[in-house]
Amino acid sequence: MQDTLDALLAKAPAELAALKTRVELDAAKARYTGPHGEFTALMKQLGAVPKEQRPAMGKLINEAKARLQTELDAALERIAAAEIAAQLGRPVDPTLPSPDAGPGTYHPLTLVREEMCRILRKAGFTVADGPEVETEYYCFDALNTPPDHPARAEQDTFYFPEAAKFDNVSKKVPGERYLLRTHTSSVQIRTMLKGPPPIRIVSPGRVYRRDTTDATHSANFHQLECLYVDRNVTVRDLKALLDYIFASLLGPDTKTRFRPHYFGYTEPSFEVDLTANHLPKVNKDWIEIGGCGMVDPTVFEAVGYDPEVWSGYAFGMGLERLAMLVYGIDDIRYFYQNDVRFLKQFA
Ligand code: DAH
Repeated sequence: MQDTLDALLAKAPAELAALKTRVELDAAKARYTGPHGEFTALMKQLGAVPKEQRPAMGKLINEAKARLQTELDAALERIAAAEIAAQLGRPVDPTLPSPDAGPGTYHPLTLVREEMCRILRKAGFTVADGPEVETEYYCFDALNTPPDHPARAEQDTFYFPEAAKFDNVSKKVPGERYLLRTHTSSVQIRTMLKGPPPIRIVSPGRVYRRDTTDATHSANFHQLECLYVDRNVTVRDLKALLDYIFASLLGPDTKTRFRPHYFGYTEPSFEVDLTANHLPKVNKDWIEIGGCGMVDPTVFEAVGYDPEVWSGYAFGMGLERLAMLVYGIDDIRYFYQNDVRFLKQFA
């Protein structure tokens, strides 16, 4: 019996180490420890061993079985690891740069923003910046937009809780609330409060409204704001600038028209339409592109400019709308999905 045990222990390790699959492993288990296995047979023979040798022999068999079990466990671990490795395929180093990343491209909104800024710089405008977190004063009050104006309602604008603190966004009125700016017009106020005219700024940036997302709406989008303040500025200057920038951006055939409108911060106020039938996917004669007008005297008073001396125009427009026209894009959601198949088309 001892000999059988020794022979068994001599052949088992090499045999188990050579197992490659679960099927082979199961067969080996059956052969050694299964109901008809070699160990089970040895245990059965124990009854025939003289009584006084039986405990020592039983102990030897149990120890051998435990060793065998350890080797079976190791074989299972090795086979399972090999299975996972086969599933994972060739090992990769995730810290290495992607082999086919290629050069990046500019986002279409960035391209249109930069092109508009370039066109406006040629007309003497400088780029001004303002915070996306604003206060009610800069976003509404100073722009002659009273508290009961619908744009200020909770269902149209994202307000922050009363306790929110932004140390880098100054409040003008104690206790006023913070909000996500609904338009870039707030930069007009921040710029005018910094110093006296003349002023000629363009301010592109992100704005927020509580809109439900669809093909033409997004809760955050981008605008481009312009403000010109000087002596003797007229509606003619405003119209001339708009004609110049849209002809530069969209081609010389582009025409603009004004439709009377109301904005609290300009008087008179207009909505701006443009024609661009030469552009792809344009199926209307006139496309609304933004709002504009002559700066209202109350706005000048709010920032301490004398409305008898200074005059100016302002306008604002949506950058997505412009980019959609330029590139023939028909769904605003493409801009935010970060799908490289879309983004790579605008290199
Ligand atoms: N702030 C307006 C909007 O978001 C657009 C606008 C209208 C801007 C008239 C202006 C302006 O500067 O004078 O719809």
